[in-house]
Amino acid sequence: MRFGFFDDPNLEYVITRPDTPLPWINYMGMENYFGIISNTAGGYSFYKDARLRRLTRYRYNNAPLDEGGRYVYLRDNAAPLPAYWSASWQPVREALDAYECRHGLGYTTITAEKSGIRSRITYFIPLKDNLEIWRLEITNLRDVAADVSIFSAVEFCLWDAMDDATNFQRNLNIGEVEVEDGIIYHKTEYRERRNHFAYFACSEPLTGFDTSREAFLGPYRGWDKPLAVEHGQCGNSIAHGWQPVGVNHNRIVLSPGETRVVIYLLGYHENDENAKFDPKGSNTIDKTTVRPAIDRYRQPAVVEEAFNTLGSYWRELLSKFQVETPELHANRMVNIWNTYQIMVTYNFSRSASYFESGIGRGMGFRDSTQDLLGFVHLLPEKARMRLLDLAATQLPDGGAYHQYQPMTKLGNHDIGGNFSDDPLWLVLATAAYLKETGDWTILDESVPFDNKAGTEAPLFEHLRRSMQYTLDRIGPHGLPLIGRADWNDCLNLNSFSDTPGQSFQTVTAKDGKVAESVFVAALFILAAREMEQIASRLGKQADVEYYARYRAQFEDAIDTAGWDGAWFRRAYDDFGLPVGSFENEEGQIFIEPQGMCVMAGIGIEDGRAEKALDAVAEHLAFQHGIVLLYPAFKRYHLSMGEISSYPPGYKENGSVFCHSNPWIMIAETRIGRGDHALDYYLRINPSAREDLSDIHRCEPYVYAQTIGGKESATPGLAKNSWLTGTAAWNFVAITQWIMGIRPAYDGLIVNPVIPASWSGFKAVRYFRGTRYDIEVKREGPGNRVTLFVDGNKCEENMIPLPVDQPDMIMVNVVIG
Ligand code: GLC
Ligand code: GLC
Repeated sequence: MRFGFFDDPNLEYVITRPDTPLPWINYMGMENYFGIISNTAGGYSFYKDARLRRLTRYRYNNAPLDEGGRYVYLRDNAAPLPAYWSASWQPVREALDAYECRHGLGYTTITAEKSGIRSRITYFIPLKDNLEIWRLEITNLRDVAADVSIFSAVEFCLWDAMDDATNFQRNLNIGEVEVEDGIIYHKTEYRERRNHFAYFACSEPLTGFDTSREAFLGPYRGWDKPLAVEHGQCGNSIAHGWQPVGVNHNRIVLSPGETRVVIYLLGYHENDENAKFDPKGSNTIDKTTVRPAIDRYRQPAVVEEAFNTLGSYWRELLSKFQVETPELHANRMVNIWNTYQIMVTYNFSRSASYFESGIGRGMGFRDSTQDLLGFVHLLPEKARMRLLDLAATQLPDGGAYHQYQPMTKLGNHDIGGNFSDDPLWLVLATAAYLKETGDWTILDESVPFDNKAGTEAPLFEHLRRSMQYTLDRIGPHGLPLIGRADWNDCLNLNSFSDTPGQSFQTVTAKDGKVAESVFVAALFILAAREMEQIASRLGKQADVEYYARYRAQFEDAIDTAGWDGAWFRRAYDDFGLPVGSFENEEGQIFIEPQGMCVMAGIGIEDGRAEKALDAVAEHLAFQHGIVLLYPAFKRYHLSMGEISSYPPGYKENGSVFCHSNPWIMIAETRIGRGDHALDYYLRINPSAREDLSDIHRCEPYVYAQTIGGKESATPGLAKNSWLTGTAAWNFVAITQWIMGIRPAYDGLIVNPVIPASWSGFKAVRYFRGTRYDIEVKREGPGNRVTLFVDGNKCEENMIPLPVDQPDMIMVNVVIG
C-alpha cells in the first residue's frame, strides 16, 4: 500500500494523505540554520547545533505523534459556528477536502483545501541566511467573498534543548519576549550571557498576536483547539516566564477567486556583544542589524528568487552524477534521493531526525568518515574540512574520540574512545578524498592531536598512527583486539554489564586483552592497501613494506583463526572462544565479516568468498534484506553485551541492519555475481519498497537504519530513517561496484558488474573537473570489460587521467 508517489521530474515525493504510518519528514538548511519538517508541518529548527541552539520545541514520543511544528490555522470567520482547520492537517486534524505534501530538496510544500479555501505553504531556508521562510498562498475558491483569519504559530524552545526539557524550576521563570512593529522577538537569556535571539515576522500587518502559550491555547487546551483560534482573536499577550510562543493573527477578506501571498519569517540573529541593547543600558534588543534581513524577505520577489536559487543549487549538485539504467529504482535513488540523503547525513550526522532527538550524539568519528565516502564527489572542499576536523580530534596514540561536538569541534569525554575500528575509517575516508580530488596537499596539512596546540603533525602522520593503533593492540589469535566495540556498537565483548541502565558503550569490566575482531582485521587490510598506495606515491618505500607486511600477517590470521568452515567468524570473546561460529548456539553467522573479508580480497582465489556469500544467501538473506546475524540471541549474554539486549530480530540483534547490506553487494561484485548484488540492492531500496509502505512504515524515499528481521515479530518494519551510514554505503555499492564507476589515484575505473538482464546503462559523472559520458553495452553474459576512451581502446579498466584537462570525455564500454 502507498501513501503517495514519486514525482521524479520535479525531484519531489508527493504524499497524498496526511495520516502516514509515521511522520514522513524532510530537511531544510545547508549552512548554519536547519530544520526538520514532517508531512504535517511537525518538526523544529535550530542554529548549528540541535541541542545547544534549538529555536522551537518539539515533543518526541508523544501521543498523538509529531507534536510541535510550524503551524498555520485557518478560520472561516463567516461560519455560523467556529470553523477552523490546519493548513497542514495537524495539529487540528480536522478532515480536509484536499491534502497534498510535496517534499522536495530542501523544501516542503503542503496544500490543503477546506470549504472553498485553498492554502499552499512552502517552507524553506534560503541558502545563505539564518532564517526560514513560510510562503503561504491562500485562494478563495468560492464565488462569494471569504473572511478568513490566519494564525501562524511556533513554540519557542529556550535554546538548550536538553535543559528545556528538564530544568523547569529555572525555565518557567526566564522566558522573555518583545513585540515591536508587529514583529515578535524571543529573547530568553538575552539580558545576560546570550547575544542571540529569534524572531517571528510576517509580511502583512498584524490583527493581533500572542506570545504566551497559555493565553493562546487557553488553560488545559492543546494545539488542536487553541482558544484564540476558536474565538477568532488573539489577546496580544506578553510572556513573562512560562512558555513563550510566537503567534501572528492576520484577518483578511478575499474576493471570489482571489489569491493572496503572506510570508512568515522565523529567524535567528546574533548581535555584537557591544551593540546588544537600544537604548544602551536598557534591556531592549538593538534591531539595527536584524531589520534589513526581515524587511528584505518580506518581499515576495525576494522570496521567489531565494527559492529558485535553492532549486538551482540542488540541480547543480545532482548533476555531478546522473545515471540511466534499466532499473527505475536505481535511477531514482542515485539521481535524486540517495544523493539527497547523503547530503543530509553530511549536515546532520546523527543529530536530529524523528528518531534522533538532537540532544544525544555529536558527530561520530566512524559515522562521519563513512558518510564522507558518499559526499566526497559532491562537496570536495567540505570533505577536506571535515577530514581535518576529524583528524584534529584524534588522540596521540592513534585512537579516536568516538564522537565530537559540532559547535566546539572537541572530542566528547563522556563517551571517550577505544572503539577499535574508528581510526581505520580515517584512512579509508582520506583515501577516498585523494582518489576523488587528487589533492595530495591534504597529507601535508598540519593537524593537532586532541585539538591541543603544539602537537601538530602532518595528516599523513595521523594516518600512520591510525594504523599503528591496531598494530599496538593485537590479541592471542593474531587478530586485532576489539576494544569497547568495533563497527558493531553492540558487540560489547569486554563490558560484562549487569547493572540496569548502564551504557554498554562506556562500561568496560575486562582489561580487553583477549577479545578480538575478525572484522577489524579485514578493515585493516583494506586500509593497509590504501596506505601502501599512498606511501608508494609519496616515495615512502619503508612504509609500503611495513603495511604490506602487517597486511599479510592479518591475512594469515584470518586464514587460521577467522574461517569457520563455511563462512568467516565474527570475533573471539573474552574467554577466547569464537563468536559467529557453527559452534555457537546463537549468533552462528554474522554479516559483517562476510562483507568485509571479501571486500578485503580474502578467499576470492580459493573459493571461500563464494562459500561465505552462499552462506549469507542461505542463512541471512530474506525478502526484506540481509539480517545482521542468525540465529538471533534469545536471551541476554553477559559476555556479548548490548547485541543480546535487543529482542530477536531488532537492531543489531538480527534485524536487516541496512548499513551492512551494501558490503555484501560489493562482495558479490568482487566474485562477479551482479545478479545477486542487484537483488540485494533492491530488497532494501526504499523506492522499490514503496508498495509496502504500510509494512515498511518509514519514508519510501530514504533509507532507514534498520528493517525488522526474519526472527522479529514485525518483519519488514523499518525504523530510524534518514541519519544512517546506509545512505553513503548504498550509493558506493550501486555506483562504484555494480555500475563499477570508481575513482582511483591515477584515473577513473569503469568496471561494471551488472546483472545478466541489464542490456547496459549510461552515466554522466564529473571527475576532477572533467565530464565523463559513459555508455555501457552488454554484448555477452559475462563481466569482461573492454573500454574505449574517445574511440580509442584502453588497455585496462581504468581511464588514465588526461594530460590536458578536456571538458568532456566519451567512454564506451562493452561487457560480455
Ligand atoms: C549505529 C551507529 C554506527 C554503528 C552502527 C552499528 O548506526 O551510528 O556508528 O556502526 O550503529 O552498531
Ligand atoms: C545503540 C544502538 C546502536 C548505536 C549506539 C550508539 O547501541 O543499538 O545502533 O550505534 O546505540 O549510541
